[in-house]
Amino acid sequence: MLNRIALLASLSFLVCCHQQPANLTSHPARAGSNLKSDFMKDPHSFGRPDEAVVNHLDLNITVDFDKKMLSGTATCDIEMKENATHIILDTKGLDIKRVMLEDDKPAVFQLGDEVKFLGRPLTINCTSSTRKLTIYYSTSADAAALQWLTPEQTAGKKFPFLFTQSQAILARTWVPCQDSPGIRFTYSAKVQVPQGLMAVMSAENPTKASENGMYHFNMPQPIPAYLLALAVGDFVFHPFDKRTGVYAEPVTINKAIYEFADLPKMVDAAEKLYGPYAWGQYDLIVLPPSFPFGGMENPRLTFATPTILAGDRSLTSLVAHELAHSWSGNLVTNATWNDFWMNEGFTVYFENRIMEALYGKDFDDMQKILGQEDLRETVADLGDTSIDTHLKLQLDGRDPDDGMTDVAYEKGNNLLLLIEKTIGREKLDTFLKSYFERHKFHSITTEQFLSEYKSELIKDDSADAKKIDIEKWIYGPGIPSNMVKIESSKFNHVDKEVTAFKNGTAPSKLETKSFTAFEWIRFLRSLSDSLSLKQMKELDEAFHFTKSGNSEILFVWFQHVIPSQYKVAYPSLESFLENVGRRKFVKPLYQQLAKTPEGKEMAKKIYDKARPNYHPITQGSIDELLK
Ligand code: BES
Ligand code: ZN
Repeated sequence: MLNRIALLASLSFLVCCHQQPANLTSHPARAGSNLKSDFMKDPHSFGRPDEAVVNHLDLNITVDFDKKMLSGTATCDIEMKENATHIILDTKGLDIKRVMLEDDKPAVFQLGDEVKFLGRPLTINCTSSTRKLTIYYSTSADAAALQWLTPEQTAGKKFPFLFTQSQAILARTWVPCQDSPGIRFTYSAKVQVPQGLMAVMSAENPTKASENGMYHFNMPQPIPAYLLALAVGDFVFHPFDKRTGVYAEPVTINKAIYEFADLPKMVDAAEKLYGPYAWGQYDLIVLPPSFPFGGMENPRLTFATPTILAGDRSLTSLVAHELAHSWSGNLVTNATWNDFWMNEGFTVYFENRIMEALYGKDFDDMQKILGQEDLRETVADLGDTSIDTHLKLQLDGRDPDDGMTDVAYEKGNNLLLLIEKTIGREKLDTFLKSYFERHKFHSITTEQFLSEYKSELIKDDSADAKKIDIEKWIYGPGIPSNMVKIESSKFNHVDKEVTAFKNGTAPSKLETKSFTAFEWIRFLRSLSDSLSLKQMKELDEAFHFTKSGNSEILFVWFQHVIPSQYKVAYPSLESFLENVGRRKFVKPLYQQLAKTPEGKEMAKKIYDKARPNYHPITQGSIDELLK
C-alpha cells in the first residue's frame, strides 16, 4: 500500500488526458490539450490516446434474441498521433472476425492475452494516414454489459427485452472501443431489431416503433464509452414537455407518467443552479426490475429501475441524481475510476440542491442525514483505515467495482457540504458553474480539481483552508471529524417516537400520521437489530410494512424480518428477491441471510430460483457471496 506521502509525490507527475472533441469550439483554457505530454494512463483501459484515438464511432449491428448476440460492424474515425503505427482498443469476450481499412484492404490485427477484469487488447496496425477502420465482430453469450430478458421477465410478459449497462468497464463487452472515461467520441448507429420492437440509445431517439425494426441513431456530443447504451423492447413514449419525457412498457407507462410528472421542473431547477442543459433532450426509460442499479445516467436517456415507482413520487431523488450527472459526470467526467468521487460526490451534492429547490429544506436535510448514516455504515464495513475509504481511490489492478461504494457518493458530497458551509453557498455555486463551463466535454482528475480549489476558491494557508483540511478528506481514510452536522426537526420527531416505542408505547399509539418515506426509513433504521416476534407483529399490524409498495421501506423492513425470523413476511421477502435485481437491495439481504446456517440455506434456495432473473453484474456479486 502506498503511504500518503508517496502517493502525493507520485500524483504530482500526473496530468490529465484532454482530448479535444472534434466538433466543439476550442476554449483558451484548453489550448494545447491534445499534446502528447497530456497523456495519463488509465489503469482500466488498454487504449493509448497518446498514440491514437477514436473520434467517432459508427455502429451497424443486429440484435438477435435467439442467439443472445449482437453482431455487425464498428467503424471508427481515428486520429493517429505522430509516428504512431497502431491503435489499441479494449475488448472483452468479443469475437473479432476481421478488420478492414478505408480502401477495403484487410488490416493486420492481433488480440492480446486476456487480463483479469480488463479483457483483451485489440491492436490494429495502421499508418499515420489511416483515418477509418471497420471491425467486424459479434458479442459472446456472457457479455456482462448485456441482459437478455425473456417475455416473462418483463412487466408486460409478451415481448423479450434487452438492455446494456456499460459503466464502469463493460462497454468493451458489446463494442470494441477505447473504454476509458478520459476518451470521448461522438457516435452514430444503425440497429436492426425484431420487427415490432422499439430500440433507444443514449442518443437522439425515436418516439415510435419503426415498421421494419430498423433504427438510426445519432449522438452529436462526444461521450466516454461508459455512456454508450442501448435498450430494445416493447415500450412507448410519453412527452412531459418539449424536451423531457418517459419511455416505459405499455403496462407501466401510466404509473411512470404520474411518478415523474415533476421532470420538467427538475431540469429547470438544475439549469438555474449550474448552467444550460447541454444534451438537448432529457428522457427516462423505466427498465424491467432486474436492472442491477437504481439509475444510470446514459446521456439524453436515463435508465431507471421500476423500484422507484412507489406511487407517491417519494423516490424521485434518484431522477434528480441521474439528471445531475448531465453536468457532473457526463459533461465533466472523472478522468479514471480512481477519481470516481468527482462523478458521484458532486452528483449527490447537485441532486440534493435540485431536491431542495423543488421540495424545500426539510426534505433535503432528511436526505443528507440518511446519506451520512449510509456513509458511517459503509466506513464501518470497510474498516476506518481502509484505502477504499479515501476519496481518491487506488483501483489499479483491481475491479473498479470495488471502489464504487458510498464513500465516493457520501464522503464526496460531505466534502462539498463542508466547503459550502465554510466559504458560503454563493461562492461555491459561482465556482461550480464556471467549473462545468470550463471543463465541459472533458475529463478531470482529483488533482486538477484540487489545484483549482486552491487557486480559485481557497487560499492555501487561509483559516478556511485549515478548517476544511481538504487533503485529509481526499487522501485520508475514514470520516474526518469536521463533517457538517445536519439538524432535522422532522427526524427529531421520529426519534422521539422511536424512544416511545422502545419504552413500551404500542405502535398504534405512536404519532406517525405526518411521516413520509424518509421518516419511515429513519424510524425503521433506528429500531434495535433484535426486535422480538411480538414487536414485529405489532409494528406490521399498525403500519403494514410487509405490504409496502415503497422498495426503500421494504428493504429496511426486511433487514428486521431476517434476524427476528418474522415468518409472516417471508413470502414477501422471497418475492422481492426473486423479482428485483437491484444490487443495492439484494446484496445486503443475501448477506444478512447468510449470517446463520438456516438463513444461508434459505438464501441458496431463493437464489436458485432468482438467479436467472438477475443481471450478470448482480449474479457476479451474489455468486461470490453464497459460494
Ligand atoms: N452511475 C451510477 C451507477 C453506477 C455506478 C453504475 C458505478 C455502475 C458503476 C448512478 O448514477 C448511480 O449512482 N445510481 C444509484 C442511484 C443514486 C440515487 C445514488 C443506484 O443505482 O443506486
Ligand atoms: Zn450516480
